[in-house]
Amino acid sequence: MQIVKSPLIETTEVQENIFIQKVHSPEIAAEAKPGNFLNIRVSETIYPLLRRPFSICDVDGEYIFLMYNVTGEGTGLLAHKKPGSLIDILGPLGNGYNFESDYDTAVIVAGGLGAAPFPFLTRKLANNKNILSLVGGRNKRDVITYNLENVLTASDDGSEGMKGNVVDLFKANMKELNKKKIKVFACGPTPMLRALKNVCIDNNINCEVSTECAMACGFGICQGCPIESSHNQDTYLLVCKDGPVFNVKDVLL
Ligand SMILES: Cc1cc2nc3c(=O)[nH]c(=O)nc-3n(C[C@H](O)[C@H](O)[C@H](O)COP(=O)(O)OP(=O)(O)OC[C@H]3O[C@@H](n4cnc5c(N)ncnc54)[C@H](O)[C@@H]3O)c2cc1C
Ligand code: FES
Repeated sequence: MQIVKSPLIETTEVQENIFIQKVHSPEIAAEAKPGNFLNIRVSETIYPLLRRPFSICDVDGEYIFLMYNVTGEGTGLLAHKKPGSLIDILGPLGNGYNFESDYDTAVIVAGGLGAAPFPFLTRKLANNKNILSLVGGRNKRDVITYNLENVLTASDDGSEGMKGNVVDLFKANMKELNKKKIKVFACGPTPMLRALKNVCIDNNINCEVSTECAMACGFGICQGCPIESSHNQDTYLLVCKDGPVFNVKDVLL
C-alpha cells in the first residue's frame, strides 16, 4: 500500500454515464491483484480529506484503469479531470479474489457497477480457465459488459438479455454449470449478493463476493466498515482490510 500521484491519460465514456479512466501508475500496477481497490482523493480543494473507494478495473503494463458512473460530487469531480491531471491514489487496498484455486470454469456474476473489478480478473484468468460472465442491471443502460468474455446478460425490465435479475440468470444456467467444476466470483449490490449466496450455499458452490459499504480510511484504522462474521455472533470483520472479497460462507450479507 502506498500513496502516489499518477497522471490521468484519458477518460472514455464506454456507455452512457459509464466512464473508464486510464492512469499511468507503474507503482500501483506492479502490486495490484483482481479485487483490490484504490482510495482516491477526488479533489485537493473541495474534499481535502475524503477519499472515495474504486475497484481496480484493469491493469495493462504500467497503466491502471478505473470504472465508475457519476453518482455524486466525488465521481463528478473525477469525471471532470483533464488528461495530465495528477490523481492522488492510496492503494492497492483490500485482499482481492482468490482465483488460483481448484476449478475449471470461473463464473463471473456482476450486477450494475459490480462489473468494475472483472476486466482485470478476466485478463488474469484468460489463459488458464474457462470463463462465463453473467451480467445484469435494471435496464440496458445498467448492463456493463466492458472487456468481459463469454457474456450472457439479464435486465430487470427485459431491455437487455433475459428478463430478470442476474441471480435468475445464474439459476437459469445452473443445469449446464452443474456439469462443470465452477467457482463463482461476484460483485454487485448487497441484495443481489445475498440472493446469490443462498443459491450457492444450497448447491454447494464455491463463491467469493466483493462487498460494498461506505468507507473512510480504507485500511483498517477507523473501524468504519464492519461486516458481521457468520461464524461468531457479534464478531465483525472490516470490509476494507479483511475484504472487500469474502467467501459467502464467512459473512452475513
Ligand atoms: C471496495 C469498493 C469498491 C468500489 N468500486 C467502485 C467502482 O469501481 N466504481 C464505482 O463507480 N463505484 C465504486 N464503489 C462505490 C464508490 O465508492 C461510490 O460510488 C463513490 O464513493 C460515490 O462518491 P460520490 O461522492 O460521487 O457520491 P456520494 O455523493 O458520496 O454518493 C452518491 C450516491 O452513491 C451512494 N454511495 C456512495 N458510496 C457508496 C458505496 N460504497 N456503495 C454503494 N453506494 C454508495 C450514496 O448513498 C448516494 O446515494 C466502490 C465502493 C467500495 C466500498
Ligand atoms: S474504512 Fe476505515 S476501517 Fe475500513
